[in-house]
Amino acid sequence: MKRICIVGISGKLGQHMTEHALARGYEVTGVCRPESVGKLARFGDRITVHPGRTDDRAVIEAATRGCDGVLVVLAPWGVQDYASGTARAVLDLAPRHARLVFSCGWHISRDGLDRYDWKIRAIVRFGTPILRALRLVDLDDQVRATDLVFASDRDWTVVRGSDLEEGPSEGLPVWASHVGDPILASNLTRRTDFALFMVAALTDPALIRETPAITGRNGASVRAGGQAALGEMPVVR
Ligand SMILES: NC(=O)c1ccc[n+]([C@@H]2O[C@H](COP(=O)([O-])OP(=O)(O)OC[C@H]3O[C@@H](n4cnc5c(N)ncnc54)[C@H](OP(=O)(O)O)[C@@H]3O)[C@@H](O)[C@H]2O)c1
Repeated sequence: MKRICIVGISGKLGQHMTEHALARGYEVTGVCRPESVGKLARFGDRITVHPGRTDDRAVIEAATRGCDGVLVVLAPWGVQDYASGTARAVLDLAPRHARLVFSCGWHISRDGLDRYDWKIRAIVRFGTPILRALRLVDLDDQVRATDLVFASDRDWTVVRGSDLEEGPSEGLPVWASHVGDPILASNLTRRTDFALFMVAALTDPALIRETPAITGRNGASVRAGGQAALGEMPVVR
């Protein structure tokens, strides 16, 4: 892995991914809205930014050219298929050999075997129509985006983030194949560690065509599940 592109680089997750990617010695390009370029000033000439919408196919084609990996922040903003347009552009236009890693939340399910607590069910059931009616966010668009990814024969990974908090890194989060696994009950990950997992997934062949649901490695549910035995590798269920 030499050169990567971060699609949605100016957000909180995008900036953490940039830090981790630069620390690994990757050459980093990124895409963000023109009005957000200033948020990346601290990275200076260590990154190359392509200003534009993340669903702009010409921008995605140019930004991912020559990349070995693409990290994609799937954000369902607005009601004009922003997330699914972004996913489609990356799946269609990123170099064929590139590893593709997408972010979303636990509410996404590939096979319907995830088991959700009342809180997530309530947010999805009541939040989806309200946010859509306000024309702010379309959670169903993130579902459509990930369905496109799941149907693709590309080397993809969809990382499903738990609730997030700020703070210093605790190390690589643990993951399970399905929400509802007891090890995930803590449901809290440092945002920098979500980013760390996204970057680590680029070079982890075990995660190809997987949908890891992650949580922080210091959570009570992880410790109860044998955290003491953990090495550097995440727990896999
Ligand atoms: N927040 C959580 O608790 C949580 C939990 C689990 C998973 N996740 C997942 O983590 C990822 C990042 O989420 P985040 O909440 O932490 O946000 P974030 O990293 O701050 O990223 C939000 C992204 O959306 C863009 N954006 C913001 N407003 C926009 C608008 N009106 N139109 C178009 N783009 C807009 C941002 O670009 P600009 O810099 O241009 O604004 C940025 O690229 C998402 O895939 C999300 O599903 C989040």
